[in-house]
Amino acid sequence: INGKISSVMTKDNFSFELLATDGKARAGIFHTPHGPIPTPIFAPVGTQATVKAVTPEQLEALDASLVLSNTYHLYLRPGADLVAELGGLHQFMAWPKPILTDSGGFQVFSLTGLRKIDDDGVTFKSYLDGSIHRFSPEISIAVQEKLGADIIMAFDECSNPNDYAYNIKSMERTHRWLERCIAAKKRNDQALFGIVQGGIFEDLRKASAEFVSSFDLPGFAIGGLSVGESKAEMNAILDIVPAMLPNNKPRYLMGVGSPEDLINGILRGIDIFDCVLPTRLARHGAAMTFLGRLNMNNAIFAHDSRPITEECDCYACRNFSRAYIRHLILSKEMLAATLLSIHNIATLEKLVKQSRQAIFDGTYTQYAENFLKNYKTVS
Ligand code: GUN
Ligand code: ZN
Repeated sequence: INGKISSVMTKDNFSFELLATDGKARAGIFHTPHGPIPTPIFAPVGTQATVKAVTPEQLEALDASLVLSNTYHLYLRPGADLVAELGGLHQFMAWPKPILTDSGGFQVFSLTGLRKIDDDGVTFKSYLDGSIHRFSPEISIAVQEKLGADIIMAFDECSNPNDYAYNIKSMERTHRWLERCIAAKKRNDQALFGIVQGGIFEDLRKASAEFVSSFDLPGFAIGGLSVGESKAEMNAILDIVPAMLPNNKPRYLMGVGSPEDLINGILRGIDIFDCVLPTRLARHGAAMTFLGRLNMNNAIFAHDSRPITEECDCYACRNFSRAYIRHLILSKEMLAATLLSIHNIATLEKLVKQSRQAIFDGTYTQYAENFLKNYKTVS
């Protein structure tokens, strides 16, 4: 199906245009105050208000239209008041396009050894200096309003995906926290996305999707995946949850971003992804390609005059050889991380761009099958 299927302007001046579908896969545009986000899209992660080793100018040249940053880190350092004083996150980091901030829920649980959760919020120790802090739905929203991202996330609890009894508790807590986030939100130029939880359990996921989508929000996220469950378990949840979310709103799969996960998510109706993988792998000397990963410090590249991949037209591949990049890695030069980050982000943006085109062309199933056939997964 081509042509505009639906376009919904929400009360917060965000709109999602669903332009084409192909099976469950969707192509559209999410409009924000800082410009359009074509979907499906991959958002590189800029935890500390910077996508590590990459300038905003370089990011723009890569077709990245959305960057994710973290409330937890920016609250602890430099502080949300300072970011607000300097004009908000867009101005602070000199990134003029859309930004999404995660709420801090997930980071409190994944980064903080010491923490205490209750129904009102979470008390935690700073990973920087051990000082004690408290997050609640109200505090997370207030901090995210000071940071000023286009998309802000509900404060949620992401728990061990395999513990049924605990997932009931944490899902219900996440639901009550969503109501409090909605009530606490004051700005009308930010889109608040609700988050579906429920671990690997289909009945909990259904209950959560039903509850979260009962609110008229501009977008919906699926959390609690890629946190230790198997790929089969993740895909089983993705087989049922997107269809339970409103068709005319974007769907964001949080923290997921290997090439095969993007393809599997798009096939199941996901529109937005984010992951540290391209930049983290880059700092470890690995290049992402459509055929699999290359360890660029491997001796087989010592005399290799070819670019990382012949097909890639990123700055790194247009100008530098595999042998040079290997030399930079062995010399511990910072440019290695920059060139590999540029290339890896370019690879994922190319994957979502080709996916959008294949959805418009009605050929996404073949595109996905072909991609997965050629892609060598690393375990
Ligand atoms: N990032 C990856 N997974 C999650 C999640 O479940 N919740 C939040 N807030 N962020 C995430
Ligand atoms: Zn490249």
